[in-house]
Amino acid sequence: MRVLVVGSGGREHALCWALAASPLFDEVICAPGNDGIAREAECVPVPVHDLDGLVDLARRRAVDLVVVGPEAPLVAGLVDRLEAAGIPALGPTAAAARLEGSKAFAKEICRRAGIPTAEARVFRAAEAEAARAWIRRHGAPVVVKADGLAAGKGVVVAETVAEALEALEAAFGGAFGEAGRTVLVEEYLAGEEASLFAVTDGTTVRELGTAQDHKRAFDGDRGPNTGGMGAYSPTPVLDADRTAEAMARIVEPAVRALAEAGTPYRGILYAGLMLTEAGPRLLEFNVRFGDPEAQVVLPRLMSDFGEIALAAAEGGLAHVGVRFGPEHALTVVLASRGYPGDHPKGTEIRGLERLEGREGVLVFHAATRREGDRWLAVGGRVLDVTGLGATLEEACRRAYEAVDLLDWPEGFCRRDIGWRALGRTS
Ligand code: AMP
Ligand code: GLY
Repeated sequence: MRVLVVGSGGREHALCWALAASPLFDEVICAPGNDGIAREAECVPVPVHDLDGLVDLARRRAVDLVVVGPEAPLVAGLVDRLEAAGIPALGPTAAAARLEGSKAFAKEICRRAGIPTAEARVFRAAEAEAARAWIRRHGAPVVVKADGLAAGKGVVVAETVAEALEALEAAFGGAFGEAGRTVLVEEYLAGEEASLFAVTDGTTVRELGTAQDHKRAFDGDRGPNTGGMGAYSPTPVLDADRTAEAMARIVEPAVRALAEAGTPYRGILYAGLMLTEAGPRLLEFNVRFGDPEAQVVLPRLMSDFGEIALAAAEGGLAHVGVRFGPEHALTVVLASRGYPGDHPKGTEIRGLERLEGREGVLVFHAATRREGDRWLAVGGRVLDVTGLGATLEEACRRAYEAVDLLDWPEGFCRRDIGWRALGRTS
């Protein structure tokens, strides 16, 4: 069988790697992919926003399954179009993808399903005065969120009322385009954050691993927010009991509520949780795998990811088990200096060949290009170096030893990935 993976980052490299290892699939295609992914998959240059081009590619190549990595094509309706063309896909329809595409919609599902989450109020631009009054009454800390997709930049955790009001003006003023014309103002939750992944065919829901990531650019959780600078799996803060509680109170009710609404959810569901003193609370749903969380969750999976993905896409997940091995995984993201701001393009990364075949090390490419035998960095987040080990300490040591073999003066990484679980102060 043939599978098409949509996307071009480290997450998609991990997806291609897991699917290439599946006995079900003898061909893996990636659109558009990158030159690192080209080792695992045939890369075809169709961009993720070209929905017609992607459906056409899936048809022409008679693929048996499409696995969609990023959220934007899901929210734009790629899976609806694939379904219309009779092609199974791992990922929700546009209606179900609103769980990530609209934070107001996600809150409404939480309300209907009784899912524990932060108290929130939704305001449209015309209601700016009411929003300001609410913020003044509520006081700080308070969280201001753009409703729509804002590439991870639409959330401000405001320490003061003035900061919250400023965030509100920015969103209503168009800083996030249409995504910010509607704003959520919500209660601040204190606790530790963790991510819980699940996969569902709309009826059966299976846990698909836990992880913690590091969103800030620099050591000590300082600097601007990024897409994620590193992650590890499993996370000790989501032990079996807490995971079961979060599955039963947060993930499963959401899947049921979407089915009851006539918009069943199929695909990978990512619950961003705050572990508060009163128990797990939902921060946000994402309708996809995390990046770089997929790079630590998938390598720990013992079951065949191809079988899981196909069963979730076609129905029948009830007959497929999801098992993880005992290993720990930790990934370090290497980014171009300047990321998440302006950064150079086309700088050379030396030493990648030294990482090949190293025990307990996997390298996923997020934004590289090959020119002859040179590897060039062509994006913000460029490489993900995953270490695997019997303990998190071992996974961490292997990842950083591998990172230290690379010679890339124009790149940087955090040196403290895993600090919480490793019991270190950052
Ligand atoms: P989101 O995109 O909604 O997950 O928000 C991005 C980040 O903002 C989260 O990972 C949290 O660190 C923080 N955050 C979001 N909502 C809250 C909240 N209600 N209380 C505290 N921090 C939050
Ligand atoms: N690493 C966070 C995310 O994928 O949303």
